[in-house]
Amino acid sequence: MNNLAIKPDDRVLVIGSTGFIGGRLVLELLKKGIKLRLLVRNPSKLSPSLLKNQLIEVVKGDLLKDEGLPAAFHAIHSAYYLVHSMGGKSISSNLEFAQADKRAAKNFVAAADAAGLKRVIYLGGLGEMGKNLSEHLRSRAEVAEILSSGKTQATILRAAVIVGAGGASYEMLRHLVEKLPVMVCPKWIDTKIQPIAVRDVLAYLVGCLLNPDTAGKVFDIGGTDIMTYREMMQQYAKAKGLCPRLIVSVPVLTPHLAAYWVDFVTPVSSGIAHPLIEGMKNEVICQEHSIDQYVPIKKTSFPDAARIAIEEGKEVKGTIGS
Ligand SMILES: NC(=O)c1ccc[n+]([C@@H]2O[C@H](COP(=O)([O-])OP(=O)(O)OC[C@H]3O[C@@H](n4cnc5c(N)ncnc54)[C@H](OP(=O)(O)O)[C@@H]3O)[C@@H](O)[C@H]2O)c1
Repeated sequence: MNNLAIKPDDRVLVIGSTGFIGGRLVLELLKKGIKLRLLVRNPSKLSPSLLKNQLIEVVKGDLLKDEGLPAAFHAIHSAYYLVHSMGGKSISSNLEFAQADKRAAKNFVAAADAAGLKRVIYLGGLGEMGKNLSEHLRSRAEVAEILSSGKTQATILRAAVIVGAGGASYEMLRHLVEKLPVMVCPKWIDTKIQPIAVRDVLAYLVGCLLNPDTAGKVFDIGGTDIMTYREMMQQYAKAKGLCPRLIVSVPVLTPHLAAYWVDFVTPVSSGIAHPLIEGMKNEVICQEHSIDQYVPIKKTSFPDAARIAIEEGKEVKGTIGS
């Protein structure tokens, strides 16, 4: 395991650094003095302070188009894979996201194997394989499988909804709760989930890099609370100081219709809302807790996670997923 331990001169590749998780992770890794390389499709999305940072190198490229990968992987010790292909302004513009995600992961493995990458850390989704699993959660699991199929040691973290300003699922929840005192929801509103605070996710992502014994392992990560989506909405309303919402569930509201409604009411485009809403039919609860032995942290409760996200008060500009 010795060559899996990161040393001061090693450089770490982050793919997805312009996203919700990747953007925050870069700041955490910089605090630890870790040298980084960012593979980005559009460098102008990075802040000027990141572009000027001495610890950061930027490579323009695209996983899906297989562009820039040799330059991105050259002399890299470990990589973070924080990428998905869901999005697009409309549902029809994003029907092939699972195929695209497979292709991107395969391109990653080919480039990683060619470059001799030692470790990859991937953040995917909770949810158990079976014919009822949504396309989105199935696709996240397929990516985990592909990333584990190469020569690189993969660490797979599996999470449900991540609570933090700017996350697509969180923004969907917050806008619906804040704007609609009365809500008509599909029956998935009573599915159970185990949300997690973004700061806990970041602690696990960094902790896994710093602990080489996490290489080659799969970990479920979650917060302290298991609840239904209905309870999560009510708890968010309470954290925000709003009166309880009136939530009526109806059996006939399809994910299609719900996604267009979310697109109308929130900054989340229907192209990303649709796969996320479909995923809400599946229970997403940690099935194992071995991460506690490798990266022990004080887990954040949902009310605290919601309060922190509200305090951050980051306004999302534009549309998420377009
Ligand atoms: N958000 C949650 O609640 C949540 C919950 C559980 C698991 N996760 C997992 O966490 C990971 C990160 O999700 P996120 O919420 O941070 O997503 P996000 O905000 O949508 O960010 C996705 C990132 O992937 C990049 N990307 C997409 N296609 C790419 C390509 N072909 N080549 C290079 N980069 C590409 C995007 O770059 P551009 O800026 O160029 O588009 C962006 O930086 C995903 O694996 C997701 O499944 C998220």
